[in-house]
Amino acid sequence: MAEENLFEVMYSAGSIRRFKPDPVPDEIITKILDAAIRAPSGSNAQSWLFIVVKDAEKRRQLGAIYKRGADILMKLYAGAPRPAHMEEAKYDRWFKSVLHLFEHMGEVPVLLVPCLKASMWTSSKLPEDIRAKMAGSVRIAGSSIYPAVQNIILACRAFGLGTTLTTVHCFFEDEVHKVLDLPDDVQTYALMPIGYPQGHHFKVKRKPLSEVVCLDSYGNPWKG
Ligand SMILES: Cc1cc2nc3c(=O)[nH]c(=O)nc-3n(C[C@H](O)[C@H](O)[C@H](O)COP(=O)(O)O)c2cc1C
Repeated sequence: MAEENLFEVMYSAGSIRRFKPDPVPDEIITKILDAAIRAPSGSNAQSWLFIVVKDAEKRRQLGAIYKRGADILMKLYAGAPRPAHMEEAKYDRWFKSVLHLFEHMGEVPVLLVPCLKASMWTSSKLPEDIRAKMAGSVRIAGSSIYPAVQNIILACRAFGLGTTLTTVHCFFEDEVHKVLDLPDDVQTYALMPIGYPQGHHFKVKRKPLSEVVCLDSYGNPWKG
């Protein structure tokens, strides 16, 4: 892919939450997953597992779990101020589309569930002090799966498909395990609806670099 095409994809891979019912060909899902597994993983362990959910009843069940997770999220949102970087009209549009996905996740043609299998980092064979250190590293828990998730987001965009990274189903991890027959040593990290967008892809907007990048030390904005 030419460099400008890669950048076009990155700059227009915003979350899609409204989908057409049209099926997604398996060949395209295969290509998206083949891109996913080009991602890095700690020690190149590749302890990932991706469940492609096409079965209508399983999608319905996952959609219902997502909705209950979303209800918890709404309680967290209640009374939270609108982020300063989002103007009111944009925030309202965003919020409406978020609410739409809360209700319709289970109807999206494909639900993809990226998972990680327990690896040597969490093995019970590790010495206790090292295991405690790994268990305390909550911040890095998803670092061997989210690079693959980002590849999925970009590959979807490249094929004209839409998706959104969501995580609230994790509130009900046990129930997700039952729906997907997952063994105990597998944990889910995202629930990604995949389908053809209703409407078009749009340019993603972010805070300016000057607000989020520092040179050498905190408080010294990057001016490049
Ligand atoms: C950890 C994480 C969890 C998210 N969970 C949800 C979710 O439950 N529902 C949803 O509609 N979007 C969810 N999103 C998508 C974000 O709302 C979205 O990426 C952000 O608003 C930026 O918008 P954009 O992707 O369109 O640029 C999540 C994103 C991340 C990174």
